[in-house]
Amino acid sequence: VSIEEENRTARDRALFDRIARDYADKDLHPAQRAARAHRLMRTLATLERQRDLKILEIGCGAGFAATYLAGTYDSYVGIDHSEPLVAYARVHNAEPGATFHTVDVGAYDPGDTFDLIFMIGVLHHLDDPVGTLEQLRHLLGPGGVVAVNEPQAGNPLIRAARAIRKRIDSGYSGDQVEYSETQLRHLFIEAGYSDIGIVAQGLFSTPFAEVVTPLQTLTTPLARISCALDTAIENSAQPIARRLSWNLIATASAGA
Ligand SMILES: C[S@@+](CC[C@H](N)C(=O)[O-])C[C@H]1O[C@@H](n2cnc3c(N)ncnc32)[C@H](O)[C@@H]1O
Repeated sequence: VSIEEENRTARDRALFDRIARDYADKDLHPAQRAARAHRLMRTLATLERQRDLKILEIGCGAGFAATYLAGTYDSYVGIDHSEPLVAYARVHNAEPGATFHTVDVGAYDPGDTFDLIFMIGVLHHLDDPVGTLEQLRHLLGPGGVVAVNEPQAGNPLIRAARAIRKRIDSGYSGDQVEYSETQLRHLFIEAGYSDIGIVAQGLFSTPFAEVVTPLQTLTTPLARISCALDTAIENSAQPIARRLSWNLIATASAGA
């Protein structure tokens, strides 16, 4: 790992330590909660088995996925390198079967395997995305699947919006990377995965997931309508969604 990469990781951890409280706060607002739970469910929507899972989430942040997925898993392990976020998760998302650990993914060695490993908005923060994906491949049990949700570069207007946010929002990582579909697929190929599937996600609902909106009585129904609209567009018009959406979801299995 180069010095620049080490600096990047340290910068990233310091950012999330600093904004932990505000970051955790997002899921407490109904409009944001609806859009964030929706993004999680869409990320896992293409997976076949959805119950009694052994789940690992990388970069779990404040741990709300453990709550949104409660009842579907035997065990959920959330890891994140930001101690304040993990401390928050342990208190506020203490679901039966859920545990949280403060650890850098590169140093994580659970001595166990999982049915589902997922990360939302995390892969592009990592120093060595291919190396990490390879490491995670070895943590998959038989039939296990990895799912990631990542910002994508397909829509020029969204690229511009992200560039502006980088300048004006001190809680937004300046190291933000947006993958193209080809780049994302190649990361998984290089890391030795098979059955790689990529779909577009999030058109109207994503801003609600990212930024706390005023007037929650008005913006909560708007967020819910946006989620339903996005699902309809993504299910019926992927070529359009691929050009317009904020994110890509990639799923893959360990293969032979
Ligand atoms: C953009 S946030 C996403 C958080 C959460 N997945 C969500 O959707 O709200 C990225 C998260 O990844 C964590 N993270 C980044 N690099 C990491 C690493 N190397 N090891 C563990 N966690 C990491 C950060 O601390 C942060 O909580």
